[in-house]
Amino acid sequence: MITGERTPMYTLGIESSCDETAAAVLKDAREVLSNVVASQVGVHKDYGGVVPELASREHIKNICYVVDRALTDAHMANHDLDGIAVTNGPGLIGSLLVGVSYAKALAYSLNKPLVPINHIEGHIYSAFLEHTAIEYPLLALVVSGGHTALYFSPQPEKYKLIGKTRDDAAGEAFDKVAKLLGLGYPGGPIIDKLAEKGNPRAVKFSPLKITDGRLDFSFSGLKTAVLRFVELEKLRPVEASMENISGKVLDLLASFQYAAVRTLLDRAKRAAQLTKPCSIILTGGVACNRLLRVTFKESFAEMGLPVYYPSPSLTTDNAAMIAAAGYPKLVRRLFGKRGRGRSFLPLDLNAYSNLKLA
Ligand code: KG4
Ligand code: ZN
Repeated sequence: MITGERTPMYTLGIESSCDETAAAVLKDAREVLSNVVASQVGVHKDYGGVVPELASREHIKNICYVVDRALTDAHMANHDLDGIAVTNGPGLIGSLLVGVSYAKALAYSLNKPLVPINHIEGHIYSAFLEHTAIEYPLLALVVSGGHTALYFSPQPEKYKLIGKTRDDAAGEAFDKVAKLLGLGYPGGPIIDKLAEKGNPRAVKFSPLKITDGRLDFSFSGLKTAVLRFVELEKLRPVEASMENISGKVLDLLASFQYAAVRTLLDRAKRAAQLTKPCSIILTGGVACNRLLRVTFKESFAEMGLPVYYPSPSLTTDNAAMIAAAGYPKLVRRLFGKRGRGRSFLPLDLNAYSNLKLA
């Protein structure tokens, strides 16, 4: 990472790839001056998942307010900014277009440089905001509602995809299991809390079998196994009251969470044996999961490998991580040999729902 080469430098990050409208101001590489996130949970919770059109409409409604608030919280005016970083993929296309269009208009009106950021790279950079000891090469597990993938990064901004989910993302599995049991949305934090009261070894879920040697993930089998158990045991959705959840449901949740964490750990460990990194980064919404965090810390400590994860507010979708990923790119463009003196306003910048990091 480039740290403090030209200080102070102020980057505005804008994120709108899914159901959070977010803006943040970052001073240099890692000082978060503001971090505003307008969550849409209230809009989507009745559907048990994100409804793309509603998400786009919420972004369009909130984006001006969210950016203004990020500047106000940072005690700055927009002309004080040195550059803008915006997520241009992957994600929901209608949602991405709101952030990208807004960022382009703002950069154009202020005549400031604008850099597009891959949302996954943003998640990886979120770990650097609070940890200064992260060393390359590193292995990053990005695990969220939309993504579950392992990346090897030999040096800053270089990535190799080591494994990815073949079906559902891990967060999607948490959300779907919670929906099945009538627990609410998003399911991850609810299951994290309830699983504490259950026995993780009560229900045996068979371990993931992928026999072609790839380090891919799969969560749809686990989700179906939960569904079968629910049908077999005639478990009923928990409706309104969370107080009377049966011991069987708590055991099921604890066992599901344990199985999901084992799958993630198994793949990450094999990837670490293969790539021999110096650090492990755990990031994306599911990385808030307490069992996942503890299991990774303890298991990788046995291999002598440090695990870094951001605080929960930086682990789920936010714009500070987008600004952090944008900072080295902006520094290069503003002060690098090839960048100096040129305008960096990509007026043809577009959004891509399947944008690849590697
Ligand atoms: O990174 P994020 O905010 O958005 C995406 O890029 O998808 O991740 C949201 C996902 C949701 O599926 C949510 O259920 C899950 O992260 N999540 C958790 C926890 N907190 C959030 N999953 C398991 N345990 C948690 N504590
Ligand atoms: Zn995300």
